[in-house]
Amino acid sequence: MATELADFLPQLDRDIRAMADWGKVADYIPELARVDPAQFGIAVALADGSMVTAGDAQKRFSIQSVSKVFSLACVLGRIGEQIWTRVGREPSGSRFDSILLLELEKGRPRNPFINAGALVTTDELLTGRSPRDALSEILGFLAAATGDADIHIDKFVAQSEAETGFRNAALANYLKSFGNLKNPVDYVLGTYFHQCAIELTCEQLARAGRSIAGLPGAPRLLTPQKARRLNALMMTCGHYDGSGDFAFRVGLPGKSGVGGGILLIAPGLASIGIWSPGLNAYGNSQAGTVAAEKLARKMGWSVF
Ligand code: DON
Repeated sequence: MATELADFLPQLDRDIRAMADWGKVADYIPELARVDPAQFGIAVALADGSMVTAGDAQKRFSIQSVSKVFSLACVLGRIGEQIWTRVGREPSGSRFDSILLLELEKGRPRNPFINAGALVTTDELLTGRSPRDALSEILGFLAAATGDADIHIDKFVAQSEAETGFRNAALANYLKSFGNLKNPVDYVLGTYFHQCAIELTCEQLARAGRSIAGLPGAPRLLTPQKARRLNALMMTCGHYDGSGDFAFRVGLPGKSGVGGGILLIAPGLASIGIWSPGLNAYGNSQAGTVAAEKLARKMGWSVF
């Protein structure tokens, strides 16, 4: 499998770079608006322990909403099933930053991957902990999952989002009004903006996903049942209102971020980190989604 991939990934890299349409970088976070959209990287961690990469796989990018998988993994490890009293597990069919359903459903977000749901997850992580300690827990999880302690938060990106994150502030205040935020709104927002500003390379992201993919030799950070549940949520909710389209085209659990990252899981087979900063209409990586589709098709990895 490693040999086939070593042949295929350079070809995929060339195909993606020949694409005319890279999509549009996220411009509502000024610091992300400055990133050159014409970049692409991919890293595949395989069950035999090997890693195959192509393109800008060693370049750090802002993981943004991909962090929601790791904060949820920490919360599942800490309180397990109890989290589902505060947040649902159904796709929302709405944009990642939508407030629409929150009023109708009385402050219980549809799932932990839309912004409202992720704010609740982060709030849970803050129970009995300072923002600094909660962030250390996520960074510690990533260090253990990747086997690499060289993982940092880009403070400028966090600051940039804090200055312009009016929708997240609205969501957090709305959650608080329903009693579904235990900590002060500012604490939760500050922690959330910093977790979103974690930077990883494609290679680090692929390594981080090995436990979720259940690869042999991966650090044992999750029970198999918790990993299954994370995969189910990634498949149904990981790309927001584009989740159906992603499942249709790629057929694998994935989680996107507005920094252009995608964590893609081929259960039992591979953990894949993809990055290209230009986004499609759903706010998911345009070229990254095409690459995921081509990779899954070539390798026959769709779970369907
Ligand atoms: O809260 C936000 O808007 C960003 N920090 C993260 C959103 C995001 O990554 C959506 N993903 N495609």
